[in-house]
Amino acid sequence: MSVVEDHDVGGNSISFLEVDGFRYPIVDQEIVKGMSQLKVKDDDILLLAYPKSGTHWLWEITSMLLQGKAETVPHWKSKVMVELQPQEVIDSFPGSHRVLNTHVRYNQLPVQAREKRCRIIFVLRNPKDVVVSFFNHHKSFTNLYGEYNGSLKDYLPFFLVGKTDYGSWFDYVLEWEKDIEAQQDRHPIHIMYYEDMKQKPLEEIRKLAVFLGVPTDDSLYSAVAEKCSFKNMKGDKEPYDPKFKGQLFVYRKGQVGDWQNWLTPEQNEMLEKLYQEKMKDSKFKDKMRFTLT
Ligand code: A3P
Repeated sequence: MSVVEDHDVGGNSISFLEVDGFRYPIVDQEIVKGMSQLKVKDDDILLLAYPKSGTHWLWEITSMLLQGKAETVPHWKSKVMVELQPQEVIDSFPGSHRVLNTHVRYNQLPVQAREKRCRIIFVLRNPKDVVVSFFNHHKSFTNLYGEYNGSLKDYLPFFLVGKTDYGSWFDYVLEWEKDIEAQQDRHPIHIMYYEDMKQKPLEEIRKLAVFLGVPTDDSLYSAVAEKCSFKNMKGDKEPYDPKFKGQLFVYRKGQVGDWQNWLTPEQNEMLEKLYQEKMKDSKFKDKMRFTLT
């Protein structure tokens, strides 16, 4: 268990924390080690997503629905992220229906979250936009990965074989697919797509509200959708979310299909080929949308 330095295919250095063979950003290893023993509450909700899939967005929306008002939550979502925070920080949010969140797999969740059958929201985003977003993330977050100076050309193969923190996007989705199937009688599970949220936010927020069991209120749903638009969140979360060189880095572009501005036809083909191969038996395969028209 330690910080490991790796290199993309162009030889550019990037570092991670490795615990039991699994890669994380360089965070507190004692917290990562203690994650499985974290105490959670019966009514805690688990928001799960591969990095860069819209975790901040869905966390804010879920939190607003649970608080019953479209008001910005006055803290960073990672204050209740299970691999990042010690027990005392999680416990400093004493209310009911906390929206704990994480990028880990089912078998890495706190044991209590599994035993207590916490409700799960699982968010997916198409991997072409994820790789572009994660590439920008790795270049920005020097405190979590060291100074990474690679190009997307050198980064893409590194991402595709799963050498980044939290491993391969494909393994993440396929493992979760199996676990969701195995656990659906134990945990209430709601699956969401970033692209659906962009295309029909009201409809998706309504479905999420039904899953959460909050009172039906169309005017609240509209207010939440508006308050959580990319532009509004970028402004409203300014005091709470982390910055890099004075800029909020989470709210980069917030679009579906930005990959078209980044991936060359050859890079797209490389990703597409692997996608077809790896996802061939997945129920998620045809649901993933790479552009919005
Ligand atoms: P981009 O880098 O493509 O812009 P996560 O929260 O899982 O780290 O995901 C970050 C991605 O979600 C970023 O994607 C970010 O811009 C996008 N995002 C954050 N808030 C959003 C919002 N309110 N609406 C749409 N996308 C949002």
